[in-house]
Amino acid sequence: MIAPKMLDALNEHLNVEFYSAYYYLAMAAHFEDKDFKGFATWMRMQYQEELAHAAKFFDFINDREGVVQLTRIEAPPQEWDTPLAVFERTLEHEQEVTQRIYNLVDLSLENRDHATNTFLQWFVTEQVEEEATASEIIQQLKLVGNDGNGLFLMDRELGQRMPADEEGADAA
Ligand code: FEO
Repeated sequence: MIAPKMLDALNEHLNVEFYSAYYYLAMAAHFEDKDFKGFATWMRMQYQEELAHAAKFFDFINDREGVVQLTRIEAPPQEWDTPLAVFERTLEHEQEVTQRIYNLVDLSLENRDHATNTFLQWFVTEQVEEEATASEIIQQLKLVGNDGNGLFLMDRELGQRMPADEEGADAA
C-alpha cells in the first residue's frame, strides 16, 4: 500500500510524463513544419521515451495496489523561433521534471516508503542523462549559429537517433 499523499504525487507525476510526451510531439510537429526532418525524428523518439516513462509510473502504481488517476493533459506550446530555442526549452523542461522527481524522492523518504524510493532512483539517473543530452545539443547549435550547412548536418545527425530499446538502454 502507498500512503495517500504519495499516491497522489505519483499520479500527478504520471500526468507530467504524459505532458512531456505531448510537449515533445508538439516540437516534432514544429520541426516537420519547418522541414527539419532529423530534429523531428529526434523529438518523436523523445516522445516515445516519455510515454515509456509514463508507463513505468502506471505499472508501479498498479503493482503497489494504488489506483491510477488519469487527468486532463495541458496543451503544449506550438511555436518556437529557432531550433536552438526548442532545445533550450527542452533543457528547461527536463530541469523542471528533475526537480519534480527530487520532490517525489523527498516525499518517499518522509513516508519511509523504500519501494517507491527505489523505483524513483531509475528516474534520478535518467534525468542526469536527459539534461546532459539536451545541454550537448544546445552547445552544438550555439557553435553552428545561423550557418545553413551546419544546421543541415546537425539535422541529419540527430535524425539517426534510434528508439531507446534499440540503443541497448533499459526501458527508456
Ligand atoms: Fe520523463 Fe524527459 O523525463
